[in-house]
Amino acid sequence: MRVGYLQFGPVFGEKQANRDRVAGFLSDVKADLIVLPEFFASGYVFESREELMELAEEDGGESFAFLNDLSRRMGAAIVGSIAERVGDDCYNTCVLSSGGDIKARYRKVHLFDREKELFTPGDLPFDVYDLRGVKVGMMVCFDWVFPEAMRALALKGAQIVCHPSNLVLPFCPRAMITRCIENGVYAITTNRVGTEARAGIELTFIGMSQVIGPRGEVLMRANEVEEDLRIIDINPALADDKMITQRNHLIDDRRPEFYP
Ligand code: ACM
Repeated sequence: MRVGYLQFGPVFGEKQANRDRVAGFLSDVKADLIVLPEFFASGYVFESREELMELAEEDGGESFAFLNDLSRRMGAAIVGSIAERVGDDCYNTCVLSSGGDIKARYRKVHLFDREKELFTPGDLPFDVYDLRGVKVGMMVCFDWVFPEAMRALALKGAQIVCHPSNLVLPFCPRAMITRCIENGVYAITTNRVGTEARAGIELTFIGMSQVIGPRGEVLMRANEVEEDLRIIDINPALADDKMITQRNHLIDDRRPEFYP
């Protein structure tokens, strides 16, 4: 299965231009699954809730339609997150589009820092989608800091975890190695690059998009500053082997009666 990340630097608010860039990057790519950064179309540092609601889209809006068009044209599944307006709420919604349709949807459960003032926490469970026989789960950026997120996906049988991100803290690329080892799954973390300075806030995104294997192998990793599109062939079935030694099963050996 050919999977990959598109690490790039969206320009805040330039949704059409950002979508055009994604389409340009991916125009000749042959792959089965591509992960885009969190908020690939809008950018991240919203000045206010009003600005967020203006840039947010209802289900079926232009960025959803864009992903569907792209997945149909490419014959690949595409994962990315979009600011989704639902009545007075706005969610950080991660979607998997395949064959021209949104096939799976997850709304970011663990909001990071100022997101708590802007977004409604996700109301959908961590879940797994069957992509032509491969079990694919989704989580978004700061979910990495809660091991329960990836564990929930692993318990539901995820072989590959797609992880659109806008990382600013330095820890995640290393932490995801552990997340993959402890769950025996692949993870595709796609981060963005660049700096957004708005609303008196300056955030520099750390890049380092990566694909990690089920034993913590760093199969490929981008650098901190450059845009980068990379594809790799992986064998999702390797994620079904949960034996970390001859006698230790990553899931069955848990002792939940001792955990709070
Ligand atoms: C983040 O969750 N965007 C850091």
